[in-house]
Amino acid sequence: MKMTFSLIAICLFLLPGLAQSQITIIPTPVKMEVASGSFTITPQTYIYASDATRHEADMLNAYLGQIYGFTLPVQTNPSSGNGINLSLREGEKNPEAYHLTINKSKVDIYASDNRGVFMGIQTLLQLIPPQKVGMAAVFQIMVPAVTIYDYPQFGYRGMHLDVCRHFFSVAFVKKYIDYIAMQKFNTFHWHLTEDQGWRIEIKKYPKLTEIGAWRNGTTIGRYPGTGNDGIHYGGYYTQEEIRDVVRYASDRHITIIPEIELPGHASAAIAAYPELSCFPDESTKAPARTTMAGPTTGKQVQQTWGVFPDVFCPKETTFKFLEDVLDEVLELFPSKFIHIGGDECPKDNWKRCAHCQQLIKEKGLKDEHGLQSYFIHTIEKYLNGKGRNIIGWDEILEGGLAPNATVMSWRGEEGGIEAASQNHTVIMTPGQYMYFDHTQTKQEDSVTIGGYTSLNKVYTYQPVPQKLDSSKRKYVLGAQANVWTEYMGYPSKVEYMIFPRMSALSEVLWTPENRKSWDRFKSSLPDIYKRYNLWGANYFKHSEEVMKAEGK
Ligand code: ACM
Ligand code: ZN
Repeated sequence: MKMTFSLIAICLFLLPGLAQSQITIIPTPVKMEVASGSFTITPQTYIYASDATRHEADMLNAYLGQIYGFTLPVQTNPSSGNGINLSLREGEKNPEAYHLTINKSKVDIYASDNRGVFMGIQTLLQLIPPQKVGMAAVFQIMVPAVTIYDYPQFGYRGMHLDVCRHFFSVAFVKKYIDYIAMQKFNTFHWHLTEDQGWRIEIKKYPKLTEIGAWRNGTTIGRYPGTGNDGIHYGGYYTQEEIRDVVRYASDRHITIIPEIELPGHASAAIAAYPELSCFPDESTKAPARTTMAGPTTGKQVQQTWGVFPDVFCPKETTFKFLEDVLDEVLELFPSKFIHIGGDECPKDNWKRCAHCQQLIKEKGLKDEHGLQSYFIHTIEKYLNGKGRNIIGWDEILEGGLAPNATVMSWRGEEGGIEAASQNHTVIMTPGQYMYFDHTQTKQEDSVTIGGYTSLNKVYTYQPVPQKLDSSKRKYVLGAQANVWTEYMGYPSKVEYMIFPRMSALSEVLWTPENRKSWDRFKSSLPDIYKRYNLWGANYFKHSEEVMKAEGK
């Protein structure tokens, strides 16, 4: 048999002596000097790592393989040479800070912690021209000579994904984690339970996924919609899959914060275990002007969007259920924070439930808001006892904040300001800036939940509210964009909604105010789009026109 070998020489030349303005790194680094000349990566370029940075060398190769199609040989002894050196050096307090120096003979990335080395790798990846290379036997890739010192402005840099309104595969969740990592975010908030689907396997309560992960149809179009598609829809992650995703994220220095919603948004859990409701025998009703597919009696997983009155009843048995669920969640997720929801819990059922009313009296609570607070405090105490802290949406302020809770401010910034004033840590996710389910154009170009959040609006967001007393500003840990998926049925729609707004947010969270520039960011968009193309990501392509029309 005749074998043919083809040698493909790929030369990707960057002109030496690039100006800063010609280099696009998103988020823009704190300090960057561009020198003349470049380093050339060839198939023979070694990555030099110590045992301690070997993992980051593997990560660099994972991304080189994934993005560019080639990998480089790794040497751990000696741990530096004329190649790409990854090392740890003491002296830097911020574990995500890094130094990156590129000259003609080598690339040096060092930090005090592997997290910093990983951040430096992300910058290096963006200095490689945005073209596929492949496993060619010969290639030369020129990366420009630079000296960078870089660190983030905020310690919490998050992206959220709702996998309940629509379900997303493990493969896409991993891709999403890569998007998070490649733009120097560090937290993935995984919204796992909802009215429309329970997505995490809980061994002790198998019906949560046998029943709760599936709905008999979905509203067509924007709520209340034009009907119901009648398609059996759902899915869930097995515990093995979750462990795999947690490991994948951890390899990339991304913390996953799971969200288990309580006491509201509980329809799917109640469909599986009706006894969790105040009224187990009452059938689930479709909201006015919507239709439900399949059986219309008994408890049903919701098929449309909104807020539903059938919520967890604060019975002993409900708390036991939730503690059992959380025990399994804690086994899977090592994060310090566990998100317990707390938002949008209608009090209708509690008002007419004899048990709830009795509990209010017995505990000396003021009303049903006091009961909500009691619910959250009880769960917080349980989780604190296991060494974890809770995050809740800003409704957890109602009736008094639980002692160690962190507040996620979504109904504007007021909840965050209030919580910080009470010396509680805060993550800012105000709807008007941080909800990436809003449209990107005034004239909506696809079905969305509504609201208009332009690229400029995201870019100009400042997570620390001006109104907040300066002594309380330290309580703002950072910010996060929320991606609710009522109107995002497939991955390319999610990508369309997050890009390029997510890149704008990366600068909000990482780049210091004096290095941020809307004009510079806007003129970088063509380069940013080239990276999205390289990643195989869909994105909204008309921000420049939309912003121009608004004089931005
Ligand atoms: C939320 O958007 N309901 C937190
Ligand atoms: Zn009740």
